[in-house]
Amino acid sequence: MANQRVMLITGASTGIGAAVARQACSEGFRLVLLARSQEKLASLQAELSGDVLIVPADVTSREQLTAAVDAAIARFGHIDVVFANAGTGGSPGGFSGADPASWERLLMTNVYGLALTLQCTSDALKSSRGHAVITSSIAGRRSLAGSMYSASKWAATGIGHGFRKEIGKHGVRVTLIEPGMVDTPFFDSPKPDMLKPEDVARAVLYAIAQPAHMEIHEMVVLPMAQQDSDTVP
Ligand SMILES: NC(=O)c1ccc[n+]([C@@H]2O[C@H](COP(=O)([O-])OP(=O)(O)OC[C@H]3O[C@@H](n4cnc5c(N)ncnc54)[C@H](OP(=O)(O)O)[C@@H]3O)[C@@H](O)[C@H]2O)c1
Repeated sequence: MANQRVMLITGASTGIGAAVARQACSEGFRLVLLARSQEKLASLQAELSGDVLIVPADVTSREQLTAAVDAAIARFGHIDVVFANAGTGGSPGGFSGADPASWERLLMTNVYGLALTLQCTSDALKSSRGHAVITSSIAGRRSLAGSMYSASKWAATGIGHGFRKEIGKHGVRVTLIEPGMVDTPFFDSPKPDMLKPEDVARAVLYAIAQPAHMEIHEMVVLPMAQQDSDTVP
């Protein structure tokens, strides 16, 4: 029987989110793709052959997330997997010197936006006894000097573990994906020796593919080039 499961992905327009969309589509998932860029979402939708709904949405807007979830339920009836992946990088300068305006954007996206995504999808996940997969980072397990980005990913890791403890009794699984450096548009220059977004996508689909009695809490996924290094994004 065809895979009728529905996956909602935030940060689906590029990088890791787009790679997960491609792989999930090839496995027969029906997709709900969210990002701010309608143009990039439309181009990905045109590339994919499956049943794909695109919804331009900013994860810092409760209204836009709610509208996206409503549109997903109206189209597909249920949501089985939420890949809460939207995120953004920081600015140089450290805690002593960075522009605080950059912290606001970073924390609103990586922390508040993540929590909102989970809140807005939690009823759907309870109904489907579904699976939330959250993109944190190795930077959410190791502290990087002067990095508010790292701090935001520590928060993402904490949100993931806390959400599991809250929602697990409803049969919902929660997995944190914690990659090292991945060669995506997150960076201004190519990172050829680092992970490919497809590497992270395989880890995400592996976690989702496990039977309902088994839950992968965390997956740290590092390129060999970072094997002995604390130099992470
Ligand atoms: N690349 C790495 O080395 C690395 C390592 C560990 C973890 N991560 C994490 O992986 C996730 C994906 O990053 P990536 O590497 O794939 O980078 P990316 O290619 O820049 O993707 C980021 C995605 O998030 C979306 N996004 C950003 N702000 C948003 C907002 N306010 N509302 C909705 N969508 C928003 C972007 O789309 P729009 O701009 O169209 O909205 C884009 O689809 C992030 O959480 C990042 O922190 C990355």
